[in-house]
Amino acid sequence: MIKLIAGPMATLSHQGLRKIIEGFGGCDEYYTEMINAASFLTHGKFESFYALNETAADKIVWQLTGKDSTPMAEAALELCSLGGIGIDINMGCSAPEIYKTGAGISWMIRPREETHDMICAVRDKVKLRLSAKIRLGDEDFTDEGFYSFCRMLYDCGIEQLVIHPRTKKEKLARPPRYFYVENVAREFLGKMNVVLNGNVKDVSSFNAALRAAPSVSAVMIARTSAQKPWIFAKLKRAMGEGASPEQNSAFIQSAENEPLKIDRLAVGLEYIQNLRTDQPPEFWITRMQRFFAYYCDNFSYGHYIKSKMLNCKSLEDAERTFTSYFDEVKDDRWEKV
Ligand SMILES: Cc1cc2nc3c(=O)[nH]c(=O)nc-3n(C[C@H](O)[C@H](O)[C@H](O)COP(=O)(O)O)c2cc1C
Repeated sequence: MIKLIAGPMATLSHQGLRKIIEGFGGCDEYYTEMINAASFLTHGKFESFYALNETAADKIVWQLTGKDSTPMAEAALELCSLGGIGIDINMGCSAPEIYKTGAGISWMIRPREETHDMICAVRDKVKLRLSAKIRLGDEDFTDEGFYSFCRMLYDCGIEQLVIHPRTKKEKLARPPRYFYVENVAREFLGKMNVVLNGNVKDVSSFNAALRAAPSVSAVMIARTSAQKPWIFAKLKRAMGEGASPEQNSAFIQSAENEPLKIDRLAVGLEYIQNLRTDQPPEFWITRMQRFFAYYCDNFSYGHYIKSKMLNCKSLEDAERTFTSYFDEVKDDRWEKV
Protein backbone atom coordinates (compact mmCIF):
# COMPACT_ATOMS: atom_id res chain seq x y z
CA MET A 1 0.00 0.00 0.00
CA ILE A 2 1.44 3.36 -1.01
CA LYS A 3 1.71 5.79 1.90
CA LEU A 4 0.88 9.47 1.59
CA ILE A 5 3.11 12.02 3.31
CA ALA A 6 2.68 15.77 3.85
CA GLY A 7 6.03 17.35 2.99
CA PRO A 8 8.07 19.77 5.07
CA MET A 9 7.67 23.45 4.19
CA ALA A 10 9.22 26.24 6.21
CA THR A 11 6.48 28.55 7.58
CA LEU A 12 3.70 26.26 6.33
CA SER A 13 3.98 22.72 7.72
CA HIS A 14 2.95 23.53 11.26
CA GLN A 15 0.21 22.28 13.55
CA GLY A 16 -2.36 24.72 12.10
CA LEU A 17 -2.08 23.11 8.67
CA ARG A 18 -1.90 19.59 10.12
CA LYS A 19 -5.23 20.19 11.84
CA ILE A 20 -6.86 21.07 8.54
CA ILE A 21 -5.44 18.06 6.71
CA GLU A 22 -6.54 15.81 9.59
CA GLY A 23 -10.04 17.27 9.28
CA PHE A 24 -10.22 15.76 5.80
CA GLY A 25 -9.12 12.35 7.07
CA GLY A 26 -5.39 13.02 7.25
CA CYS A 27 -2.39 11.37 5.66
CA ASP A 28 0.09 8.77 6.87
CA GLU A 29 2.95 11.03 7.95
CA TYR A 30 3.42 14.74 8.57
CA TYR A 31 6.94 16.13 8.16
CA THR A 32 7.33 19.31 10.18
CA GLU A 33 8.85 22.44 8.73
CA MET A 34 12.60 22.38 9.22
CA ILE A 35 13.68 22.96 12.81
CA ASN A 36 17.05 24.58 13.25
CA ALA A 37 18.90 22.33 15.70
CA ALA A 38 21.11 24.96 17.32
CA SER A 39 18.22 27.43 17.76
CA PHE A 40 15.93 24.72 19.08
CA LEU A 41 18.40 23.88 21.83
CA THR A 42 18.34 27.49 23.08
CA HIS A 43 14.68 26.95 24.06
CA GLY A 44 13.99 30.48 22.84
CA LYS A 45 10.60 32.12 22.74
CA PHE A 46 9.47 30.64 19.42
CA GLU A 47 11.03 27.19 19.54
CA SER A 48 8.18 25.48 21.39
CA PHE A 49 5.84 26.29 18.48
CA TYR A 50 7.94 24.10 16.18
CA ALA A 51 7.46 21.21 18.57
CA LEU A 52 3.67 21.35 19.02
CA ASN A 53 2.21 17.88 18.76
CA GLU A 54 -1.39 18.01 19.93
CA THR A 55 -2.61 17.07 16.46
CA ALA A 56 -1.74 13.69 14.93
CA ALA A 57 1.07 13.23 17.47
CA ASP A 58 1.80 9.69 16.35
CA LYS A 59 2.20 10.67 12.67
CA ILE A 60 4.76 13.45 13.07
CA VAL A 61 8.28 13.35 11.63
CA TRP A 62 10.50 16.09 13.07
CA GLN A 63 12.72 17.58 10.42
CA LEU A 64 16.06 18.90 11.57
CA THR A 65 18.39 21.28 9.85
CA GLY A 66 21.83 22.33 10.96
CA LYS A 67 25.48 22.58 10.03
CA ASP A 68 27.12 20.75 12.96
CA SER A 69 26.57 17.22 14.11
CA THR A 70 26.60 17.78 17.88
CA PRO A 71 23.60 20.14 18.10
CA MET A 72 21.78 18.02 15.51
CA ALA A 73 22.24 14.90 17.62
CA GLU A 74 21.21 16.72 20.82
CA ALA A 75 18.14 18.30 19.21
CA ALA A 76 17.18 14.91 17.72
CA LEU A 77 17.32 13.34 21.16
CA GLU A 78 15.10 16.06 22.62
CA LEU A 79 12.55 15.86 19.80
CA CYS A 80 12.38 12.07 20.13
CA SER A 81 11.10 12.52 23.67
CA LEU A 82 7.98 14.10 22.14
CA GLY A 83 7.16 10.90 20.27
CA GLY A 84 6.05 10.67 16.69
CA ILE A 85 7.37 8.50 13.89
CA GLY A 86 10.88 9.76 13.68
CA ILE A 87 13.54 12.29 12.87
CA ASP A 88 14.38 13.50 9.38
CA ILE A 89 17.61 15.17 8.37
CA ASN A 90 17.23 17.97 5.85
CA MET A 91 19.89 17.43 3.17
CA GLY A 92 17.91 18.87 0.31
CA CYS A 93 17.15 22.49 1.09
CA SER A 94 18.88 24.64 -1.52
CA ALA A 95 17.72 28.06 -0.32
CA PRO A 96 20.94 30.15 -0.22
CA GLU A 97 20.34 31.28 3.36
CA ILE A 98 20.39 27.59 4.40
CA TYR A 99 23.09 25.94 2.30
CA LYS A 100 25.49 28.87 2.60
CA THR A 101 25.58 28.23 6.35
CA GLY A 102 26.59 24.60 5.73
CA ALA A 103 23.12 23.10 6.27
CA GLY A 104 20.55 21.58 3.86
CA ILE A 105 21.98 20.41 0.57
CA SER A 106 25.53 21.27 1.60
CA TRP A 107 25.51 17.86 3.37
CA MET A 108 25.42 16.32 -0.12
CA ILE A 109 28.30 18.45 -1.34
CA ARG A 110 30.84 18.64 1.49
CA PRO A 111 33.41 15.85 2.12
CA ARG A 112 31.50 12.63 2.52
CA GLU A 113 33.18 11.62 5.81
CA GLU A 114 31.65 14.70 7.46
CA THR A 115 28.16 13.71 6.38
CA HIS A 116 28.80 10.11 7.41
CA ASP A 117 29.93 11.21 10.87
CA MET A 118 26.97 13.57 11.33
CA ILE A 119 24.45 10.86 10.49
CA CYS A 120 26.17 8.37 12.79
CA ALA A 121 26.12 10.95 15.60
CA VAL A 122 22.38 11.53 15.13
CA ARG A 123 21.74 7.80 14.70
CA ASP A 124 23.38 7.10 18.06
CA LYS A 125 20.87 9.32 19.86
CA VAL A 126 17.69 8.52 17.95
CA LYS A 127 15.57 5.61 19.03
CA LEU A 128 12.81 6.41 16.51
CA ARG A 129 13.01 5.98 12.73
CA LEU A 130 15.75 8.01 11.06
CA SER A 131 15.13 9.43 7.61
CA ALA A 132 16.79 11.89 5.26
CA LYS A 133 15.45 14.14 2.53
CA ILE A 134 17.79 14.72 -0.37
CA ARG A 135 18.00 16.15 -3.89
CA LEU A 136 20.21 14.81 -6.69
CA GLY A 137 23.13 16.99 -5.61
CA ASP A 138 24.98 19.92 -7.14
CA GLU A 139 24.74 20.78 -10.84
CA ASP A 140 27.78 18.60 -11.64
CA PHE A 141 26.47 15.51 -9.81
CA THR A 142 27.16 12.14 -11.41
CA ASP A 143 24.91 9.09 -11.37
CA GLU A 144 27.55 7.06 -9.58
CA GLY A 145 28.10 9.83 -7.02
CA PHE A 146 24.38 10.05 -6.34
CA TYR A 147 23.81 6.30 -6.01
CA SER A 148 26.86 5.81 -3.81
CA PHE A 149 25.65 8.69 -1.60
CA CYS A 150 22.34 6.84 -1.13
CA ARG A 151 24.26 3.65 -0.25
CA MET A 152 26.28 5.57 2.31
CA LEU A 153 23.05 6.88 3.90
CA TYR A 154 21.69 3.34 4.12
CA ASP A 155 24.94 2.05 5.63
CA CYS A 156 24.77 4.81 8.28
CA GLY A 157 21.31 3.66 9.35
CA ILE A 158 18.91 5.80 7.33
CA GLU A 159 15.64 3.85 7.23
CA GLN A 160 13.57 6.11 4.99
CA LEU A 161 14.90 8.24 2.17
CA VAL A 162 12.86 11.00 0.55
CA ILE A 163 14.16 11.93 -2.88
CA HIS A 164 13.24 15.22 -4.51
CA PRO A 165 14.97 14.51 -7.81
CA ARG A 166 16.23 17.90 -8.84
CA THR A 167 19.69 19.42 -8.54
CA LYS A 168 20.61 22.21 -6.16
CA LYS A 169 19.78 24.97 -8.62
CA GLU A 170 16.88 23.41 -10.48
CA LYS A 171 13.70 25.38 -9.88
CA LEU A 172 10.40 23.79 -8.90
CA ALA A 173 9.04 24.51 -12.39
CA ARG A 174 11.48 22.02 -13.91
CA PRO A 175 10.25 18.41 -14.19
CA PRO A 176 11.65 16.15 -11.47
CA ARG A 177 13.62 13.14 -12.70
CA TYR A 178 11.65 10.26 -11.23
CA PHE A 179 13.81 7.56 -12.76
CA TYR A 180 16.52 8.28 -10.18
CA VAL A 181 13.94 7.66 -7.46
CA GLU A 182 12.88 4.40 -9.07
CA ASN A 183 16.48 3.17 -9.40
CA VAL A 184 17.15 3.78 -5.70
CA ALA A 185 13.78 2.31 -4.67
CA ARG A 186 14.48 -0.84 -6.67
CA GLU A 187 17.95 -1.24 -5.22
CA PHE A 188 16.72 -0.92 -1.63
CA LEU A 189 13.37 -2.70 -1.94
CA GLY A 190 12.56 -4.32 1.42
CA LYS A 191 15.59 -2.67 3.09
CA MET A 192 14.91 1.09 3.13
CA ASN A 193 11.70 2.98 2.34
CA VAL A 194 12.15 5.24 -0.64
CA VAL A 195 9.75 8.15 -0.99
CA LEU A 196 9.09 10.07 -4.19
CA ASN A 197 8.66 13.84 -3.95
CA GLY A 198 8.09 16.54 -6.54
CA ASN A 199 5.18 17.88 -8.59
CA VAL A 200 2.45 15.54 -7.38
CA LYS A 201 -0.62 17.74 -7.26
CA ASP A 202 -3.67 15.66 -8.24
CA VAL A 203 -4.81 12.14 -9.07
CA SER A 204 -3.37 12.12 -12.57
CA SER A 205 0.10 13.41 -11.57
CA PHE A 206 0.07 10.93 -8.65
CA ASN A 207 -0.65 8.05 -11.02
CA ALA A 208 1.96 9.27 -13.49
CA ALA A 209 4.58 9.48 -10.72
CA LEU A 210 3.82 5.91 -9.64
CA ARG A 211 4.02 4.65 -13.19
CA ALA A 212 7.48 6.18 -13.43
CA ALA A 213 8.58 4.94 -10.00
CA PRO A 214 6.48 1.87 -9.13
CA SER A 215 8.92 0.59 -6.48
CA VAL A 216 8.55 3.53 -4.04
CA SER A 217 6.80 2.96 -0.74
CA ALA A 218 5.35 6.46 -0.37
CA VAL A 219 4.65 9.73 -2.13
CA MET A 220 5.33 13.06 -0.43
CA ILE A 221 3.32 16.15 -1.34
CA ALA A 222 4.46 19.59 -0.23
CA ARG A 223 3.02 22.64 -2.03
CA THR A 224 -0.29 21.05 -2.86
CA SER A 225 -0.81 20.13 0.80
CA ALA A 226 -1.12 23.89 1.40
CA GLN A 227 -3.00 24.72 -1.78
CA LYS A 228 -5.44 21.83 -1.42
CA PRO A 229 -5.28 20.37 2.09
CA TRP A 230 -7.93 17.88 0.93
CA ILE A 231 -5.51 16.35 -1.64
CA PHE A 232 -4.83 13.32 0.56
CA ALA A 233 -8.57 12.63 0.95
CA LYS A 234 -8.94 12.73 -2.83
CA LEU A 235 -5.96 10.47 -3.42
CA LYS A 236 -7.16 7.98 -0.82
CA ARG A 237 -10.52 7.82 -2.52
CA ALA A 238 -8.83 7.28 -5.87
CA MET A 239 -6.89 4.38 -4.30
CA GLY A 240 -10.10 2.96 -2.85
CA GLU A 241 -9.15 3.82 0.73
CA GLY A 242 -10.31 6.36 3.28
CA ALA A 243 -13.74 7.68 4.08
CA SER A 244 -16.39 8.10 1.43
CA PRO A 245 -17.59 11.70 0.97
CA GLU A 246 -20.75 10.85 2.89
CA GLN A 247 -18.67 9.77 5.91
CA ASN A 248 -16.31 12.72 5.74
CA SER A 249 -17.61 15.59 7.83
CA ALA A 250 -15.34 18.07 6.02
CA PHE A 251 -17.37 17.47 2.86
CA ILE A 252 -20.67 19.27 2.99
CA GLN A 253 -23.87 19.76 1.08
CA SER A 254 -24.64 23.42 0.38
CA ALA A 255 -28.26 22.69 -0.50
CA GLU A 256 -30.52 19.67 -0.41
CA ASN A 257 -30.02 17.19 -3.26
CA GLU A 258 -26.82 18.91 -4.31
CA PRO A 259 -23.60 16.87 -4.53
CA LEU A 260 -21.15 17.02 -1.63
CA LYS A 261 -18.54 19.75 -1.84
CA ILE A 262 -15.60 21.22 0.02
CA ASP A 263 -16.16 24.69 1.45
CA ARG A 264 -12.98 26.60 0.51
CA LEU A 265 -14.07 29.67 2.44
CA ALA A 266 -14.46 27.66 5.64
CA VAL A 267 -11.02 26.05 5.14
CA GLY A 268 -9.35 29.46 4.68
CA LEU A 269 -11.05 30.87 7.79
CA GLU A 270 -10.15 27.79 9.80
CA TYR A 271 -6.52 28.23 8.81
CA ILE A 272 -6.53 31.84 10.03
CA GLN A 273 -8.14 30.76 13.29
CA ASN A 274 -5.52 28.01 13.73
CA LEU A 275 -2.78 30.62 13.49
CA ARG A 276 -4.19 32.22 16.63
CA THR A 277 -4.01 28.97 18.58
CA ASP A 278 -0.93 27.34 17.06
CA GLN A 279 1.49 30.16 16.22
CA PRO A 280 3.01 33.05 18.17
CA PRO A 281 1.48 36.47 17.30
CA GLU A 282 4.80 37.58 15.79
CA PHE A 283 4.33 34.94 13.04
CA TRP A 284 0.64 35.47 12.33
CA ILE A 285 0.84 37.84 9.38
CA THR A 286 3.78 36.25 7.57
CA ARG A 287 2.35 32.77 7.96
CA MET A 288 -1.08 33.90 6.82
CA GLN A 289 0.55 35.44 3.73
CA ARG A 290 2.62 32.33 2.96
CA PHE A 291 -0.43 30.08 3.15
CA PHE A 292 -2.67 32.27 1.00
CA ALA A 293 0.10 32.61 -1.59
CA TYR A 294 -0.63 28.93 -2.34
CA TYR A 295 -4.27 28.68 -1.33
CA CYS A 296 -5.38 31.53 -3.60
CA ASP A 297 -4.27 29.49 -6.63
CA ASN A 298 -7.57 27.63 -6.22
CA PHE A 299 -9.56 30.66 -7.34
CA SER A 300 -10.61 32.12 -10.69
CA TYR A 301 -9.17 35.51 -9.75
CA GLY A 302 -6.25 34.06 -7.81
CA HIS A 303 -3.82 36.94 -8.40
CA TYR A 304 -6.41 39.48 -7.34
CA ILE A 305 -7.30 37.83 -4.04
CA LYS A 306 -3.67 36.90 -3.38
CA SER A 307 -2.50 40.50 -3.62
CA LYS A 308 -5.36 41.61 -1.36
CA MET A 309 -4.42 38.99 1.24
CA LEU A 310 -0.76 40.00 1.04
CA ASN A 311 -1.76 43.54 1.99
CA CYS A 312 -3.76 42.58 5.07
CA LYS A 313 -2.35 44.01 8.26
CA SER A 314 -4.19 41.84 10.79
CA LEU A 315 -5.89 38.44 10.96
CA GLU A 316 -9.28 40.17 11.30
CA ASP A 317 -8.52 42.10 8.13
CA ALA A 318 -7.55 38.81 6.43
CA GLU A 319 -10.83 37.18 7.50
CA ARG A 320 -12.88 40.09 6.18
CA THR A 321 -10.96 40.33 2.92
CA PHE A 322 -11.14 36.61 2.24
CA THR A 323 -14.85 36.37 3.09
CA SER A 324 -15.76 39.31 0.88
CA TYR A 325 -14.11 37.68 -2.15
CA PHE A 326 -16.91 35.09 -2.17
CA ASP A 327 -19.55 37.81 -2.21
CA GLU A 328 -18.02 38.81 -5.53
CA VAL A 329 -17.25 35.33 -6.95
CA LYS A 330 -19.79 32.98 -5.37
CA ASP A 331 -18.96 29.83 -7.31
CA ASP A 332 -15.33 29.88 -6.22
CA ARG A 333 -16.41 28.90 -2.75
CA TRP A 334 -16.97 25.26 -3.60
CA GLU A 335 -14.54 22.54 -4.61
CA LYS A 336 -16.05 19.43 -6.16
CA VAL A 337 -15.39 16.26 -4.22
C1 LIG B 1 7.61 27.32 0.80
C2 LIG B 1 8.44 26.06 0.79
C3 LIG B 1 9.15 25.72 1.93
C4 LIG B 1 9.92 24.54 1.95
N1 LIG B 1 10.56 24.19 3.09
C5 LIG B 1 11.22 23.00 3.16
C6 LIG B 1 11.76 22.53 4.39
O1 LIG B 1 11.64 23.17 5.45
N2 LIG B 1 12.43 21.34 4.38
C7 LIG B 1 12.57 20.60 3.23
O2 LIG B 1 13.18 19.52 3.27
N3 LIG B 1 12.02 21.01 2.06
C8 LIG B 1 11.34 22.17 2.02
N4 LIG B 1 10.74 22.54 0.85
C9 LIG B 1 10.77 21.63 -0.32
C10 LIG B 1 9.51 20.72 -0.32
O3 LIG B 1 9.47 19.88 0.82
C11 LIG B 1 9.48 19.84 -1.59
O4 LIG B 1 10.65 19.09 -1.65
C12 LIG B 1 9.33 20.65 -2.88
O5 LIG B 1 8.40 21.71 -2.72
C13 LIG B 1 8.85 19.75 -4.04
O6 LIG B 1 7.66 19.06 -3.69
P1 LIG B 1 6.19 19.55 -4.19
O7 LIG B 1 6.24 19.59 -5.69
O8 LIG B 1 5.24 18.50 -3.66
O9 LIG B 1 5.96 20.92 -3.63
C14 LIG B 1 9.99 23.72 0.80
C15 LIG B 1 9.29 24.08 -0.35
C16 LIG B 1 8.51 25.24 -0.36
C17 LIG B 1 7.75 25.59 -1.61
